[in-house]
Amino acid sequence: MKLPLVLLSFATLLLANPSVCLPGEAASSTSPSLKEAFKDCFLIGAALNESQFTGRDARAAALIKKQFDSITPENVLKWGLVHPQPDTYDFGPADRYVEFGQSNGMFIIGHTLIWHSQTPHWVFHNADGSLLTRDALVTRMREHITTVVGRYRGRVKGWDVVNEALDEDGTMRSNYWMRIIGPDYVQKAFEFAHAADPAAQLYYNDYSLENEPKREGALRLIKALKAAGVHITGIGVQSHDKMDWPTAQQLDATIDSFANEGLKVMITELDVDVLPAAFRGPSAETSLNAKLTKDLNPYTNGLPESVQQALAKRYAELFSTFLKHRHQIARVTFWGVTDGNSWLNNWPVRGRTSYPLLFDREGHPKPAFDAVIGLATRAHLE
Ligand code: GLA
Repeated sequence: MKLPLVLLSFATLLLANPSVCLPGEAASSTSPSLKEAFKDCFLIGAALNESQFTGRDARAAALIKKQFDSITPENVLKWGLVHPQPDTYDFGPADRYVEFGQSNGMFIIGHTLIWHSQTPHWVFHNADGSLLTRDALVTRMREHITTVVGRYRGRVKGWDVVNEALDEDGTMRSNYWMRIIGPDYVQKAFEFAHAADPAAQLYYNDYSLENEPKREGALRLIKALKAAGVHITGIGVQSHDKMDWPTAQQLDATIDSFANEGLKVMITELDVDVLPAAFRGPSAETSLNAKLTKDLNPYTNGLPESVQQALAKRYAELFSTFLKHRHQIARVTFWGVTDGNSWLNNWPVRGRTSYPLLFDREGHPKPAFDAVIGLATRAHLE
């Protein structure tokens, strides 16, 4: 009997965490949607691909409208897609993304302005292959941010201004931005974004912030930005999680330390990897790549019930911590909608069958969905 076990786990979590997210509504046989269940706690978001926000994937579009009240573009606002050539912007897909969010009354996120990945070679190099000067790269950065943020001024409500500027040890990552401009590239990016849309929320976004050295590095960065008078409103904790990482204590400490700096905390790229680890350590470094083997891809014919239940329990643990910190957390965004379109089918091993989200490949809610909803609704009944 698996159900009683899961319910028992909920009861334990709820005793530790008597939260109320669903005022005036009792749990019923028809589950509320995620956005309804958490409406008094935080926004619930999803990262969308183009077929979803254009409606080409009609089933996914319907699911998104029902379940989520915030959206993030998985790719279409990354530099390489929106600004592929020096004098060419391709705003078509991004415009559709923003229209989808607006017509469905969603809180629209822009992801991401400055990153080391998915950024074309030409951004940093002259035609002869030499590196740009600091001044030239600052000018290029200003032009890009002013154009992109300016176009969606007042409509995109929050921007991941800088993504992944830190290494695991908390020092600045040696990317082209750092090497050519220096550490103040982060400050400049925030200043240009703020000038382009003074009302927009501006975030720093990164992974593995739950690990102390990287978290300390992020805190140093935030303090330096604040000391320089920079407008920074929030921090994105990506949360590409494992079954055993981060611990609740790590998450508690992470959320508290950023909230203590006066920042909104956002869980920005949530998923839980149930597949065997191809690498040691909980990194979400996108350049990692391992060879596909049978051992690394054990669930090609479906997720065994025991793993399904373990995932539900893991999601309940995570949301229990989010609920405990609901006054500090503004949004919880999943990186994808259904298991079938998660990046974890192709990272860090191409061609695996992964199960990291709340909806299965057919768009049906998984036990993990019930676990998360149950946490919100049962909390109200306690
Ligand atoms: C990082 C980025 C995201 C996305 C994921 C993997 O976390 O912030 O934009 O590329 O990697 O899909």
